[in-house]
Amino acid sequence: MKINQQNIRIIRNIALVPDKIFLMELESAHLSREAKPGQFIEVRCVQTLDPLLPRPFSIHDAEDNKIKILYQVVGEGTKLLSLKRPGDEISVLGPLGTGFSVDKKKKKAILFAGGMGAAPLYFLARKLIEKNIDVELYFGTRNKENLITINPFKKLGIKIHIASEDGSCGEKGMITCLLNNKVGAPIASSGQSIFTCGPRPMMKEIARWALKNNLTGQASLEKEMACGVGVCLGCVVKIKGDYKRVCKDGPVFDINEVDWEENENK
Ligand SMILES: Cc1cc2nc3c(=O)[nH]c(=O)nc-3n(C[C@H](O)[C@H](O)[C@H](O)COP(=O)(O)OP(=O)(O)OC[C@H]3O[C@@H](n4cnc5c(N)ncnc54)[C@H](O)[C@@H]3O)c2cc1C
Ligand code: FES
Repeated sequence: MKINQQNIRIIRNIALVPDKIFLMELESAHLSREAKPGQFIEVRCVQTLDPLLPRPFSIHDAEDNKIKILYQVVGEGTKLLSLKRPGDEISVLGPLGTGFSVDKKKKKAILFAGGMGAAPLYFLARKLIEKNIDVELYFGTRNKENLITINPFKKLGIKIHIASEDGSCGEKGMITCLLNNKVGAPIASSGQSIFTCGPRPMMKEIARWALKNNLTGQASLEKEMACGVGVCLGCVVKIKGDYKRVCKDGPVFDINEVDWEENENK
């Protein structure tokens, strides 16, 4: 896998939720060819020095010489990114990190996405389906505003379960509450692989449940990053009693090996 730093052209930068959630499409034969689900790119949001550090974004999809990122505006960098127009160029480093690994022997995969955690899981879902693996999505959200991020999953024709904290869509409550009711039981008894990305407390609950039911799985972690290539050690997390770099050794880790207690507040 080749990692490149390149200036690439923005094809589209659409507001899915005004001022909040954006879908950006970028022209890059290199990233489209090399990217694997679960990998990410480091994006310089401006040409100037402020903000200095690039921002990491999961690869939401990659094909036909294009890649997509799905992002939420949370601070200065993402705000500046949201102001970019088609035709503008941005400096991008990638693809970075390890992706999800797929066991082709398992014919079903269960994906758990919380909020913007849907971003890397869509690319994964598409690739799993290409390998004739049946995919089901569990999506947890604060409210129905974020539902738009799962529209691409709907187009894949997969089964989708939704839970919202305010009850405005799907079951009321956290997505993890579905695990302990009738929905979770068939997964637990089937021994399927699970894949998750989302808020740390959600993934911690899923990990606890997976362990209890002898399930294997992979979790994509997020950590504030500086270099993105394993040099600055700014993104370490505790995995199996050892410290690992989210950018280089991850962001995808074995769900049963993450020290969820240790990493909870980091
Ligand atoms: C591997 C990886 C993949 C990611 N993929 C996506 C994605 O697909 N879509 C998306 O919307 N976001 C993604 N993120 C998070 C994204 O990088 C941050 O939201 C972004 O860097 C914030 O930049 P900012 O300048 O707008 O905000 P800042 O001003 O830097 O921060 C604003 C707020 O966001 C928090 N924050 C900053 N960086 C992170 C981070 N890395 N993780 C969690 N919280 C953070 C800060 O603590 C602060 O509260 C990913 C992060 C990682 C590490
Ligand atoms: S961000 Fe520098 S080592 Fe991970």
